[in-house]
Amino acid sequence: MKILAIVGSSKSGNTTEVLKYFEKKLTEIIPCNFEYLYLSDYDIDFCTGCHNCIFIGEDRCPHFLVVKSIEDRMLSADAVILATPGYMFSVTGIMKNFLDHVAYNCHRPKYFGRKAFLISSCTKWQEKSVFAPMQTWLGGAGFKFAGKLYVEMLPFPLSEKELDKRRTAISKAASAFAKELQHPQEIKPDFGGLMIFHAFRTLSKIAPNILRADYQYFSDKEAYKAETRWYIPTKVSYFKHQMANFMEKRLEKSVLKMIDPSKLNPQGIGFKNML
Ligand SMILES: Cc1cc2nc3c(=O)[nH]c(=O)nc-3n(C[C@H](O)[C@H](O)[C@H](O)COP(=O)(O)O)c2cc1C
Repeated sequence: MKILAIVGSSKSGNTTEVLKYFEKKLTEIIPCNFEYLYLSDYDIDFCTGCHNCIFIGEDRCPHFLVVKSIEDRMLSADAVILATPGYMFSVTGIMKNFLDHVAYNCHRPKYFGRKAFLISSCTKWQEKSVFAPMQTWLGGAGFKFAGKLYVEMLPFPLSEKELDKRRTAISKAASAFAKELQHPQEIKPDFGGLMIFHAFRTLSKIAPNILRADYQYFSDKEAYKAETRWYIPTKVSYFKHQMANFMEKRLEKSVLKMIDPSKLNPQGIGFKNML
């Protein structure tokens, strides 16, 4: 089993210490090949906001080659861990920049069948906000969320008693993750995941010339057929399917009310000089 830990810290500090202990405990339970990928080793410029990845295709991103080299490593892993310190109640800048570059996956998820775990080391009080961007992304990209671990680390040497508390918490999290990894995965969307499918399906149907890559993705999957329930064949109850279809219709109606169809030009530039 291959596990890829993507690290959002620019140094081998607290986050790495937590990860190393997590790796030690995990590998005591299940044999796995644990790899580290430090985002700071990859030279990715800031996202320019060109929207090429979302509208036309990820290969049109100005930073495509470097982003692809990271995505290839994720695709070759059975599970991914995103690990970051908390900076200003969020992930670090390099982790956020990475998430911006792979955000298009929320339109066209491809990580089905893989599990993901989140780790953060912070001083205090940011458990919710630090995890939110990473958890939102991995759900949208098709990963199965397999848990998270928040370890409070101070910029002071900790007492043995405090360190023991952390070792226990990390061990517990590692064994919970091991259980998840050993468990055969049932790919099944929750209602939020179901609605993301319906939302992007309807938006790309309304504006196929803008959301070109999404339109191609949904067409390839024959997902515009009303009976298609999700990106991949899976169990979605009849009731949930009908409910999601109903909400998709309402979304379509409200979007159509907001836009001017004459501005949906074939170049896909429908939002410049709007005001
Ligand atoms: C620029 C910067 C901003 C930070 N912001 C916060 C913060 O808002 N809340 C917090 O609890 N810790 C904050 N920290 C502390 C780090 O999250 C903490 O020390 C972390 O364990 C460092 O991990 P590392 O050694 O792996 O880089 C900040 C640290 C830096 C350098």
